[in-house]
Amino acid sequence: MYFSGTKTTKKVVECIADRLYKEMCDAGEEAGGGVLCAAGIDFTPPEARTRVYRFGPDDVVVFGVPVIAGRVPNVLLGFLDTLQGGGAMAVPVVVYGNRDFDDALIELRDILESKGFHTIAAGAFIGEHSFSRKLAAGRPDADDLIVAENFAKAIAGKLRKIAESACACEEPVEVDGQEPLRPYYKPRDRQGNHINILKVKPKLDAAKCDGCGICVDVCPMGSIKAEAPGIVDGICIKCCGCEKLCPQGALYFDDPGYLYHKEELELGFADRKEPKIFI
Ligand SMILES: Cc1cc2nc3c(=O)[nH]c(=O)nc-3n(C[C@H](O)[C@H](O)[C@H](O)COP(=O)(O)O)c2cc1C
Ligand code: SF4
Ligand code: SF4
Repeated sequence: MYFSGTKTTKKVVECIADRLYKEMCDAGEEAGGGVLCAAGIDFTPPEARTRVYRFGPDDVVVFGVPVIAGRVPNVLLGFLDTLQGGGAMAVPVVVYGNRDFDDALIELRDILESKGFHTIAAGAFIGEHSFSRKLAAGRPDADDLIVAENFAKAIAGKLRKIAESACACEEPVEVDGQEPLRPYYKPRDRQGNHINILKVKPKLDAAKCDGCGICVDVCPMGSIKAEAPGIVDGICIKCCGCEKLCPQGALYFDDPGYLYHKEELELGFADRKEPKIFI
């Protein structure tokens, strides 16, 4: 299950879940049967967040969100509150743009625990920064996906051990992060003043747009209407899905504060970070 504006979280979650599914199928065959079914739930589209998702004790959910301002995206909190874990096991995963995941993973773990999931492992992975094509460019890359596959194998091993010991009483997985949770990360200029990008939206170069409607389909806030493709008419969380996925390169940001922050991130966090797993 994932939310993913530019598909980096999707890539990581699908890699872990696919490998975990294969591992569990192999284990099931060796043990002489068992019914397994894999299903992906993409809750990026707004309509997917109007449904209630219920799970049960036989389910294992790999659950991913991108890191926004060092935390779980706050626009998702209402939806996350509707989840019904029902004793399912969960693997919280956050994907961040090579700055830091701060308290996002511990927050996601606690949300899932509070909704009736039992968290058995967790991971923080790196994805190309939404704002940039330079910062963590192309990630998750092949090396990241190897880590993701090995992580899935380790989760499968842990699930087998849990099944053997018939123990469901483990503590939540321990992860990095602070409690109480720190405030949302705020970008600042060199004088330490807060750069407020809350109201920033991408703009349309109408001469480039061919009206294909991809931006309408990808906007997780439903803020680009089919009647006016390319025009952002509503809340924008700067996920950059529309801008990065527009085949014509017709969407762009020109807000000076946003562009300054993007450059500061590219300069300050150029050194490669590696995924971190907790199991
Ligand atoms: C508004 C916003 C805030 C972000 N804040 C952070 C952050 O605090 N730390 C970080 O390393 N990356 C941050 N990122 C980058 C994303 O976490 C990262 O690019 C991630 O791979 C995006 O996932 P997606 O492709 O699934 O949307 C932010 C992205 C956006 C849009
Ligand atoms: S994705 Fe790009 S080209 Fe297609 S409608 Fe949107 S702005 Fe226009
Ligand atoms: S309009 Fe904003 S929220 Fe919607 S896809 Fe574009 S960047 Fe993301």
